[in-house]
Parts: sequence; structure tokens; C-alpha cells
Amino acid sequence: MKKILLTLCVFGAILSTQAQTTVAINSSGEHVINPNIYGHFAEHLGRCIYGGFYVGEDNQVIPNVAGVRTDVIEALKDLKVPVLRWPGGCFADTYHWMDGIGPKDQRPSIVNQWWGGYIEDNSYGTHDFLNMCEAIGAEPYLAGNVGSGLVKELADWVQYVNHPGGSPMSDLRIENGRKDPWNVKYWGVGNEMWGCGGNMKPEFYANLYRQYATFMTDWSNSSRLFRIASGANEWDFNWTEVLMRDIPNHMIEGVALHNYAVIEWSDKGSDTEFTTDQYFQTMVDAIDMEELVTRHSAIMDKYDPEKKIALVVDEWGGWYDTPKGQSALYQQNTMRDAMIAGITLNIFHNHADRVRMANLAQTVNVLQAVILTDEEKMLLTPTYHVMKMYNVHQSATMLPVEISDMLYFENGEDKLPAISASASQTESGEANISLVNIHPEKSHEVTLELGLNGKITGQILSSGKLQDYNSFDNPTKITPKEFKEFKKKGNKVTVKLPAYSVVVLNVK
Ligand code: AHR
Repeated sequence: MKKILLTLCVFGAILSTQAQTTVAINSSGEHVINPNIYGHFAEHLGRCIYGGFYVGEDNQVIPNVAGVRTDVIEALKDLKVPVLRWPGGCFADTYHWMDGIGPKDQRPSIVNQWWGGYIEDNSYGTHDFLNMCEAIGAEPYLAGNVGSGLVKELADWVQYVNHPGGSPMSDLRIENGRKDPWNVKYWGVGNEMWGCGGNMKPEFYANLYRQYATFMTDWSNSSRLFRIASGANEWDFNWTEVLMRDIPNHMIEGVALHNYAVIEWSDKGSDTEFTTDQYFQTMVDAIDMEELVTRHSAIMDKYDPEKKIALVVDEWGGWYDTPKGQSALYQQNTMRDAMIAGITLNIFHNHADRVRMANLAQTVNVLQAVILTDEEKMLLTPTYHVMKMYNVHQSATMLPVEISDMLYFENGEDKLPAISASASQTESGEANISLVNIHPEKSHEVTLELGLNGKITGQILSSGKLQDYNSFDNPTKITPKEFKEFKKKGNKVTVKLPAYSVVVLNVK
């Protein structure tokens, strides 16, 4: 691999407050950025599945394939979604997969106890989800029911979707119209077992995990199961410690972690009308991801020094109060969310050795969605655009970044690093550099020192106000634009990075 030495100097736009930040990137990168960190999550919650993905086979108004919206499939294909987690979330530990197979008019209904108590008619089930993943080109990640299910139930689900044929469950699948197995690789063994999954203690769950994992069989050669243990909530390091200590390494391929950017659980604030102070608090939580993955990884290192087990951040994103009259956990998506996406993905890149899957919560109409729908209308959010600009990093080798002389976003006595960066190099030798400036007011001049010659092109996501968003009346208000605000001089490139902007540069 070619060596690149990149130095990035950031200057405050205002000379009197000029700050210079240097980011050195050593390009002898070892770790490939797993595309699965660009994963998503879809739960039976609010309008994520019903109305978001699925509008029913009989729908004559909204174009669909087998009931799944064509516009959503196309948008997710374009985004290069690598993996999609389903059916929850908290819903997963109430879900009995057999309710969602067979003739739709004969499926039993259940109460969705976590998300408003509405009647779930199970019209969207295993076949719908797995066929949809094929249409999108994403690997499915099924979250099994440990909290209220049975070992046999999960073992049977694995057999139903993965056994080639000639077994009770595979014959049932064939009877239900699907001859070939889907070969599902990624399996969650419960969700949030410390909370909605059963309020368990880690020691109890670790034993339960061992029991469930024992009966999950690899039925096909093509998909060795990748079993993911329900992981810690944010700062619960003891949870990770106990799982790593009590579950033998050969029985586990991934340990999860959940972290949302929330101002205050009892008062999360508006999705679109927020103060600078609230914005600062959201950024504090988003940047916490750095410390969280560092510390959970350090615990994993003790038990798995070869880093065979992945840290899977299978729920992350911003969480605000649901606007009145909206479906459960619906929220708009502003430039604040673009900042969360940009810095979080940079953190995941920079921890590519251990963080090998992540799933943004959630894909459509719920929390930090990449897509919003309103009947036949659909729009792409700023978060969608950041993920699309960034997907050039998928499968590239991460180039470690060292930032010094940081510029800060100050809020009273508190301050946060304003600049976030990550870089990677593709197999063909191109470099991609992602830069985020979360500062709410200051633009900055950024000087890159590159040890690589080549043509530089760029894209930027920015807007007039931090609170701006794409609405159904103006769905393309915020879209990536060509970025030309840089000058190359020798091996230095000076870049003008506006306040609250995300920039991706490509060096070819
Ligand atoms: O994403 C919404 C909910 O947040 C999920 O169902 C749960 O796992 C988490 O608490």
C-alpha cells in the first residue's frame, strides 16, 4: 500500500480566535473498514415497517414489490446498505416468528406491548423481510427472541431460513413458497436483556446465551452463523466484562453495545427547535461514542486479544421527543443529525479493528431515520446524505488519524472538540478523507498536507441553519453539493470548512 502522510491544519476563520489543528494520518493502515458499520435497523415500531417499508400487496397507489415500497428499496440500494437488523429492538423479545409465516389471512395477531399496544397483524413476516433484503442487496440480521421465546423456537427459526431442504422446518418454508434457503448469517441472541429483553443480570444472561447459542446450528456451508450477544447499555462496562468472561470465545462472534445521543431521557427536546445549549448536549452524547467503544473494546481485549469477536453497535443515533400527532418515535432530521452521523461514522472508522458492525436506529420514520415517508411521498434526510457521501470508506483500509491542537466548540465552561476526521485508502490507492466541523458558528480553514499526488474532488453537506431539514414541501433543501473551496499548493491543500458541515474529499 502506498504511504500517505497527511497533515491537516485547521484555522479559525476569525483571526483573533484563530486556532490551528493538525491531523496527521499515517497510512500504513492495517484494518479494513467493515462495510457492516453502515448497517441499519428496522423494528415493528411506529411507521417503520407498516407505512415505511411495507404498504401491502394490494396497495394500488404506492408502487411496491410484494407490498414493499419501490422508492424505499431503490433509495436503500443506492445507499449501499450492507446489513439490516429486524424485527427489533424491544419488539424482538415479544416476537414469535411462526406468527408471521403462511397465508396472511390466517396469521394470528398480537399486541405490540412496547410500542403503543397496537394490534400487530403479522402481515409482514420472515419471508417479507428476507426477500426485501435480497431486493435491497443487504445481509439480513435477525434478532432472536430470548426474553419470552424458547430455545427450540430460535433453533427452529435458524432451521427454517437456512436448512437446504428435507427437514421439518425447511419443508415448511418450501410449502410457504420459498425453495432456497436464505442462508442468514447474522443472529442476535436477544435484545437489551438488561431491560426490555427481560431485566436480567449479566451472569444470568451469559448462561442463557450459552444455552441458546448451543442449539443454533449452521445448516449450510455458505453461512457460518455469526451470533451476537445482547450488549451493554452505554456505560455498563460490567455487562461486557461478564459476557466476555463467562461466554467461551468459540461460542460468540459479536457483542453488542447501544448508545443514543439523548439530552435527557425525561426531556429529550424538540427534533427541530433546539438551542445552542441543547445542540451542545447532543454533541456531548454523540462524541461519548469514542470513549464508549474505547473502553468496551479494552475489556474485550483482555479476553480476546486477537480481536476475533466484533463489537457491534447495533443501535445508535439521536433521539428527541416525538412531535405531537406523529407516530411512535417519529422525528425530523436536521443538520444536527448530519453532525451525529458524520462524527459517529468517523469514530467507527477509527476503531475499525474492533467495531465491525453498527446499525443506525432506525431506517424509516423512526428516530434518526435516513428516509421519511408520508403516504405516497418519500424524502431522504441529511443523515441519508452523510451516509451516502461516506460510503466510499466501505471496505477501504483505515488510515489512523492523530489530531493535535484541537479547535473547540465552547459552551459556558464546557467545551468539545469541533473537528472530527477519518481517512481510508481503497485497494486502487485512492484516499478518502471525511471532515466534520460541528461548530455552530465558526467556519475554519483546513490545511491538508498530503503525501499523495492526485486530483482532488470534494462533496459537502451544509445548510443555512443548523435546524434546517428536508420537508415534504421542500425535500431537496439539503443535498450534497460539489465542494470546490480548496486550494492545492505543493503537498498542501487549504480547505474552507464551513460551520456545521460535513465534507468528503477524494484524492485520486
Ligand atoms: O430503537 C428503539 C428502541 O431503543 C429499541 O427497541 C430498543 O432496543 C432501544 O431501547
